[in-house]
Formats: sequence, C-alpha cells, structure tokens
Amino acid sequence: MMSDQQLSQKYLAYHGLFLPKCGYEDNIKDFKTFKVQEDDVFVITYPKSGTVWMQEIIPLLLNGGDFTPVQTIPNWERVPWLEATPALFVDKMISPRAMVSHMPYHLMPSSFFSSKAKIIYITRDPRDVLVSSFHFHRMANFLDDPGTFEEFAAKFLAGKVFYGKWADHVKSWRNPDIGDRILYIKYEEMIQDLRGVMECILCFLGKQLSEDALDRVYEHCQFKNMKHNKMSNYSLVPENFMDSSKSPFFRKGIAGDWKNHFSPELEAKFIAAINEEMKGYGIRFYWDE
Ligand code: A3P
Repeated sequence: MMSDQQLSQKYLAYHGLFLPKCGYEDNIKDFKTFKVQEDDVFVITYPKSGTVWMQEIIPLLLNGGDFTPVQTIPNWERVPWLEATPALFVDKMISPRAMVSHMPYHLMPSSFFSSKAKIIYITRDPRDVLVSSFHFHRMANFLDDPGTFEEFAAKFLAGKVFYGKWADHVKSWRNPDIGDRILYIKYEEMIQDLRGVMECILCFLGKQLSEDALDRVYEHCQFKNMKHNKMSNYSLVPENFMDSSKSPFFRKGIAGDWKNHFSPELEAKFIAAINEEMKGYGIRFYWDE
C-alpha cells in the first residue's frame, strides 16, 4: 500500500489502492453507489489480463453475433469501465449491460453484493501480466514511466502499481460469498481454445449462438484481426494519452513472453513471492503445471 505522500502526480488514492487520475478523477465518486441490475454482466480482471479481448467477445455473445457494436462503438463505450465512466452513461445502457472493472471484490458497488449479476473473471500468468504491464506503462502517458524491467518488477511485487498487488486482486475474487455467479477463465485457455471458452461463456450466460455465428465471432476475435479494429485498438485516442509508437496496445498477444524478459534470478524471486502471497488458496499455478 502506498501513502499519499508517495503518490506521483498522475495518481489518486482510493481505499488503499492508487488509480490513474485520468478518467477516474471525475467518475470514481459515483462508483460505490452505482446501481447494479440483475442481468448485468461484469468482466473483472487485474490490468493486462485480457480485458479488451473480452470487451470484444461479450457483446457478440450477448447479441447473437451482430457485429455492429464492435465495428462502430469504441470498446470503452461498448463495454465501459465502471470506475472510469460517468454513471449517467452506464445508467442509460440497454440491458443486458456488460461492463468491465479492475476493482477488487470488496470495493465493488454496494448493490453488487446482493444482486444476481454475473461475473467473468480472467486470470493470466502473472509473469506475462508483468511484461504486458511494463510495456503498457511505456506507452500510456497517464501512468508513471516504468523504469527498467527489474525496477518495474519490484514495484509490481510490492503492489506499487495501479490497482495494487496482483495476488490481492486474485484472492479477493476467490471469496466464497460469490457462489456460482462467477466464471473463472484463464487467458491461456483463450489462447489455446477460444471457441471452447466462448461455448463455456454462452452456457454460463444462458445464451445460444449458431455454429456459423460462433465461427464468425471466433475469427473476428483473433489477435491478428482485432489489432486492426480501430474501435478496439486505441488508435482513436490521442498520442499524448497512449503512444503506440512506443509499444502498441495489441503488442504480442501470446502466452509465455515472460521468457524473453525474466532472468533466472528474477523468475525465482517472482515465483517465491507470488507463492508466498497465495499460500493456502489452493490455486494451481502456471509454474506448477
Ligand atoms: P500483451 O501486451 O502481452 O500483448 P488488457 O486488455 O487487460 O489490458 O490486456 C492486454 C493484453 O491482452 C495484451 O497483451 C494484448 O495484446 C492482449 N490481447 C488483447 N486482445 C487479444 C487477442 N485477441 N488475442 C490475444 N491476446 C490479446
């Protein structure tokens, strides 16, 4: 946890987390009192775990494979960031609404806890999360410069990055109170078998899609295609906000890029730290498989 004195100019403090001021400063005040509806769908992730990918998939599965929204509405309006979007905008969305959030479980809006809203939670190998986040910090000007990879890894393990520690986020969303309202998905499963994952989501949401429609959605959501969708690749935002010349948002889209970034020493330290944080949670890890 970071004290207010340690916060850089780019962040604001929020219940022990720090969040980028940009986009949040005006909207976070509405977050706690946001009115959740029974048929809302929340995509919850720790940053850099595949959020934008799911912002593409979910509307298509909910609307029977109609490509109009993903071709005409930017992802941040199509499946808005709950904590960084005016409540008035989200209140006007047509049901069933899909939203994304990076918030830990205990900080969700009060009405969320008593609702039947469904949650899709994506985890990703934290080593790849770190790598993706490092490159994201290089291009996103609303975040601090990451420094060297080793420096950034130390900040990541200490939770001195936006939304805090990876392990705290993952643990918070394993709360048994959530019951069967949550579907856990791994980014790596999406890489290996996206069609299978989409079928699983359809079943969880009680929706159906023809084989043909599912094939089209599958194709559309491939990395090579999504990276050219200007409604999803952030090419619509000004360069002083996100600078793709430093690192594109759709960077590599693979599992295992950590191998190109970690020294053996850093890997050992990283695994030991995460294992320690996750002790007693019975979660099998990427490095245990
Ligand atoms: P990399 O930086 O490793 O390439 P988020 O949306 O949570 O910020 O996560 C971003 C990560 O998801 C980036 O990872 C991005 O490339 C990856 N991603 C987005 N769409 C993808 C897709 N269709 N297939 C595979 N990876 C995807």
